[in-house]
Amino acid sequence: MTRYLITSALPYINGVKHLGTLVGSLLSADVYARFRRAQGFETLAICATDEHGSTTELAAAEAHMDVRAFCDLQYTMQKASGDGFALDWDHFGRSSSRANHELTQHFARLLWKNGHLETRTTKQVYSNADKRFLSDRYVIGTCPHCGYDRARGDQCENCTRVLDPVDLIDPRSALSGSRDIEIRDSTHLFLKQSAFVPKLREWIGGHTQDWPPLVTSIANKWLDEGLKDRGITRDVEWGVPVPDDIADGALKGKVFYVWFDAPIEYIGATREWAEANGKGEAWRDWWFGDAAKDVVYCQFMGKDNVPFHTVGFPVTIMGSGEPWKLVDRLKGFNWLNFEGGKFSTSQQRGVFMDSALEILPADYWRYWLMANAPETSDANFTWEQFAAQLNKDLADVLGNFVNRVTKFCAARFEGCVPSEGSYGAEEDTLIGELDGRVAALAALFEAMEFRKAMAELRAIFVAGNEYLTRAAPWTAIKTDRARAAAAVRMGLNLVHLFGHLAWPVMPTAARRIHESIQDAAEVIPWPDEPMAEFLDDLEYGLQIRVPQVLFQKIADEQVESWKRRFGGADGA
Ligand code: 2FM
Ligand code: ZN
Repeated sequence: MTRYLITSALPYINGVKHLGTLVGSLLSADVYARFRRAQGFETLAICATDEHGSTTELAAAEAHMDVRAFCDLQYTMQKASGDGFALDWDHFGRSSSRANHELTQHFARLLWKNGHLETRTTKQVYSNADKRFLSDRYVIGTCPHCGYDRARGDQCENCTRVLDPVDLIDPRSALSGSRDIEIRDSTHLFLKQSAFVPKLREWIGGHTQDWPPLVTSIANKWLDEGLKDRGITRDVEWGVPVPDDIADGALKGKVFYVWFDAPIEYIGATREWAEANGKGEAWRDWWFGDAAKDVVYCQFMGKDNVPFHTVGFPVTIMGSGEPWKLVDRLKGFNWLNFEGGKFSTSQQRGVFMDSALEILPADYWRYWLMANAPETSDANFTWEQFAAQLNKDLADVLGNFVNRVTKFCAARFEGCVPSEGSYGAEEDTLIGELDGRVAALAALFEAMEFRKAMAELRAIFVAGNEYLTRAAPWTAIKTDRARAAAAVRMGLNLVHLFGHLAWPVMPTAARRIHESIQDAAEVIPWPDEPMAEFLDDLEYGLQIRVPQVLFQKIADEQVESWKRRFGGADGA
């Protein structure tokens, strides 16, 4: 049986993540992992903090903290917000772990031995004011491609082009702001990526059917523009040291570039998982050789990460000459914008995971983010649309349905699944419709089309509501108790079904819905029986419970106060 290995792009350690990062990697991976688990597949969900490099050193300096202490603190905070969002990782590791250090050095040694690395003397930006080399994000300047004036030395956040610090126009130090900058020589290791272009083309070409067009087009664009060899070491302190046995110690005191070691941490974190759970070498069975043949490896990320996962990391794997797993399914996302502008960590613009949970439970966010996932194009968060959609889909449709059925059952049938009456034409029509819709929903989850999946889920809730309105047990009971009983029985079975279907995306609410009918297992399984069976499954006479209000409606005053707090179209 297929096993699913699922990784989300590793969040940078430099602070709590915003909703854009959540939807594009952390949450989508979690929803997919839950769905596969619900289907009964063995699934391993792996994530970790991406801790090395200039971004981290800069953030620690800004916080006036030692880098390691800063990472320890931020790791705890990110783990807590992941837990708050019910991100159900099997392991949430750290790229600074011993496992990742060892694996990164292992891959580098293999690449060196196989002749895919060479040393080169390079021109690096040196700041006289800061008395140090300024690599990557230590340099800010104008992007030579799009003219964005706050591009960082490693990548332009506006046009997503990967940059070299020496390419920036009007460069200045991110540490001191100083423009007193010179170019100095420094020796670095280069990965000869260009030799891998034919192999990459073939591999990427084999995925045109199962990767979104966004992903293959970014990957091909990279190859078409001419793949440059890549410097994989840096003159910074916080990272995986280059071992002395590479290049006869010529790289002493340097560390690997964060984008070299970070993806290796997908494997590293799997090893951490095995170590933490007494599973010995079991981590290899997910990654290496024939033991991993039954594994489908799925990655989730925003579009800026796609080049590193379709070119950079695959070259590391291919060049190692060892049979490590390459990604099978790669889901990339466009941007989620906030009130028409960008979410920005550096400018603290938008809603971040910790403050999101201060104002609403995780499930509200999880549902909205998946329903509006930026899949085929960028998407936009506005407070008005957010509140309107949640009030309608969750409070009016789903919550109200569960409430109406369970309350009526409590009032008129002693809170037990009624045994009288039997299903008729009305129920048969509904069953037929739901057979189609539940299958469609599963197919959309399988295809990782989350936005459409949420539209289908909503349509299922609506179908339940419309059925109930037509069957109107509250009217029927006046003249035909058996008819009302059959409708209530169907209503309760629908509540049960909704608890199952909602679990991957809204695990907490789904559990409450399910538990209004009966206790639920830790993983609420995907219903794979025909609807005629599932919707007539509840034992007659079973005692049900009326749940507390499932979804509170969001009031206009709340929207106004959140706009003031977080800024919005007309806010800050
Ligand atoms: O863009 C980011 O947030 C990176 N920290 C993603 C790294 S993914 C992986 F390769 F580690
Ligand atoms: Zn640019």
